Amino acid sequence: MKLFLDTADTAQIREAVRWGIVDGVTTNPTHVSKTGRPALELYKEICRLVKGPVSLEAVGLTADEIVEEGRRLAAIADNAVVKVPIMREGLVAVQRLTAEGIKTNVTVLFSPLQALLAAKCGATYVSPFVGRLDAVGHMGMDVVRQIKTIYSNYGFTTQILVAAVRHPTHVLEAALAGADVCTMFFDVMKQLFEHPLTDAGIQMFLEDWKKVPKA
Ligand code: E4P
Repeated sequence: MKLFLDTADTAQIREAVRWGIVDGVTTNPTHVSKTGRPALELYKEICRLVKGPVSLEAVGLTADEIVEEGRRLAAIADNAVVKVPIMREGLVAVQRLTAEGIKTNVTVLFSPLQALLAAKCGATYVSPFVGRLDAVGHMGMDVVRQIKTIYSNYGFTTQILVAAVRHPTHVLEAALAGADVCTMFFDVMKQLFEHPLTDAGIQMFLEDWKKVPKA
């Protein structure tokens, strides 16, 4: 499973890229607004920092607007992916962008049927928001499993990108469900390395090493 960072914070991206486990980045208008920077220069920098795909969200509401915006976003860098919200106009735009060879990530997605439609329209990725489903009493990961079954039933190549991840267990469940990608905040990615027994184990070895006679 690929691991993406869900942020527009370039300091976080730089640090996580250094760890060598970042396969891509997802941004959204909320992340961008938090940086206080103009979107275009920010997008260019992020696409330079990361080798893998970087999702940049279109905010138009008609297919024409999304296609035009999508072309501009895709022209920023070879690794740019156009994020398009799941809605009728969005999926019309996805078909047109796909026909032009532009990669898309269909986002703000909450149901397996939305994912079926997105795949039929040629989406490169679909992003089910599991944490937001969990927050309203649904089982976010069930949706991921259902999408996985539908895609394997019909041989769709659209990749499942698990999003709105809140904790490492979501990452684990995404991997067990066979998701293609899981995108997460910097703090969640950091937690993947950690275990209290690892800390205690390292500490114990360091203490014991001090008792080894010096030559
Ligand atoms: C994914 O691509 C989205 O950026 C993100 O995961 C949205 O989720 P959240 O705003 O609920 O965290």
